[in-house]
Amino acid sequence: MTTTLYERLGSAAGIAALVDDVMAAHLINPIVKTRFENVKDPDRAKKMAREFFCAGAGGPETYTGKDMLTAHRGMNISEQEYLAVMDDIVGAMEKHALGEDTKRDVISILYSLKGQIIRV
Ligand code: HEM
Repeated sequence: MTTTLYERLGSAAGIAALVDDVMAAHLINPIVKTRFENVKDPDRAKKMAREFFCAGAGGPETYTGKDMLTAHRGMNISEQEYLAVMDDIVGAMEKHALGEDTKRDVISILYSLKGQIIRV
């Protein structure tokens, strides 16, 4: 594989479209919708998600948000909620017809973060 994950995700524009779809999916997912309805500044949250994905996938953007532990500390996020968020992300990647290798790379990166997100 010669292209970076960032490129395979469609660079900044592709990642922005993915983040929009993931957030829309969270807002209709009964398991997590309340969490995201209660976000005070959704535009900032989406900006942070875009930066996080871009930087994490090897793009030139800098992530300016909190680290994952700090961002999710005290929220008491369950395994079920974590899986629901993962499912929304996989669903968005399928909608965007991303390749299996690309989906697998994103899933494995996100899975590696679960210890910083669930019940921290
Ligand atoms: C799958 C891995 C996840 C990643 C990569 C992720 C990523 C992020 C990022 C980048 C932020 C912004 C941090 C900041 O404000 O500086 C954030 C905040 C947040 N996350 Fe997550 N998150 C994940 C899982 C979850 C789960 C499972 C939930 C709950 C269902 C959740 C709920 C939230 C909420 C409510 C905020 C705060 C938004 C705000 O008030 O501005 N996240 N997350």
